[in-house]
Amino acid sequence: MKLLVIGSGGREHAIVRALKKSPRASEIHVLPGNGGIAEDAICAEVAATDIDGVVAYAKEQGIDYAVVTPDDPLCMGMVDALAEAGIPAFGPDRRAAEIEGSKVFAKGLMKKYGIPTARCEVFDDAEAALKYVEGCPIPVVVKADGLALGKGVVVAMSRDEAAEAVKNAMVDRAFGESGARLVIEEYLSGPEISVLAFTDGNAIAPMVSSMDHKRALDGDRGLNTGGMGAIAPNPYYTPEVARECMERIFLPTVRAMNAEGRPFRGCLYFGLMLTEDGPKVIEYNCRFGDPETQAVLPLLETDLLAVMEAVTAGRLAEVEVKWSDKCSCCLVLASGGYPKSYKKGCEIRGLADGQLPGGEAEVFHAGTKRLPGGALVTNGGRVLGLSVTAPALGQAIEGAYAAAEKISFEGMYYRRDIGARALAALEG
Ligand code: AMP
Ligand code: GLY
Repeated sequence: MKLLVIGSGGREHAIVRALKKSPRASEIHVLPGNGGIAEDAICAEVAATDIDGVVAYAKEQGIDYAVVTPDDPLCMGMVDALAEAGIPAFGPDRRAAEIEGSKVFAKGLMKKYGIPTARCEVFDDAEAALKYVEGCPIPVVVKADGLALGKGVVVAMSRDEAAEAVKNAMVDRAFGESGARLVIEEYLSGPEISVLAFTDGNAIAPMVSSMDHKRALDGDRGLNTGGMGAIAPNPYYTPEVARECMERIFLPTVRAMNAEGRPFRGCLYFGLMLTEDGPKVIEYNCRFGDPETQAVLPLLETDLLAVMEAVTAGRLAEVEVKWSDKCSCCLVLASGGYPKSYKKGCEIRGLADGQLPGGEAEVFHAGTKRLPGGALVTNGGRVLGLSVTAPALGQAIEGAYAAAEKISFEGMYYRRDIGARALAALEG
């Protein structure tokens, strides 16, 4: 089968590596891909958001099956457009992707179907929102309704900060139309858990749980990033919590989407917080998480292509999705300055043929580029993800850090405490 993956990050690299293991994957194309993905697949310069360009490429190349992973193309209806062209694709259609594309929709869904989440108010008027934050309990969380490159959420620790967030989104339109409406939400606390799940709209198969590390600096300080590392499984996700999530969150969400006439087929991401009142939904994503995917997919033992095709065809219940009982850690190496501005084009040293010598870690490329002369250079904020699986979480973490020492580029930085909280939880 000829496969096409849309996207260019570490997540897409991990998906390509998993698909490559399938005996039925004869050829894998990636649009646009990156310097490292190009060593595993055929990459071409078509933007992930260029729906017409992607559909034309897929037809021209005779693609049999496509996998759409980034939020923008999913919310723009790329899966719908591919289906119209007769090309089946993994991922939700435009109407189902709304579960991530509009926080107002997601919050309304949870309220209507009794799915546990933070209480919230919705505003489409800056004055009313500003008046609300003058009197609401603090801390409070201000969220832009639409997609905002992961920057649309502010956890405001003071009234001033909340007012600033409202102005930034609604008046200055820092996120464009995504900030035309705001969700202002009750602050929750507790450990966070990410659960990615395959679902075909009826059956749901949660993947191994994971923990992201969103802040740039050690001790969860600094700015929010796309994610600086992940570990799996998440020790807070006990069998009891898993059961509760399945009954009160996962199945109700799948049924709610059906009842709304928006059956969700693809990977549904549950961003959860384990509060004193039990697990609550912090956010839904309509796609695989990054960097959770780079920690989770190396633990998948079943053929990913077979699972994805079953999801698309609505026969997930017939497939047994098997997972290794090992642990894994993905450590992100980032460019100095990220998530603010950073330099690009710095040569990356320590990787021979895109891989570490000895293969201690699987290297997933995020922001890299291969120059015509052959040098591999940085081309983004998150540059590489180093993923290691091992029988114990401590070993996986050690492995990832040992691998990081072999790699260097100008300005490279990474968090020193990926997995530390999880290890502490395991040690009780
Ligand atoms: P999101 O972009 O929706 O993933 O949110 C980014 C981060 O903001 C989450 O991972 C949480 O750490 C935090 N967050 C979002 N909503 C809340 C909330 N209601 N209470 C506390 N923290 C939150
Ligand atoms: N790691 C969080 C996300 O992918 O949105």
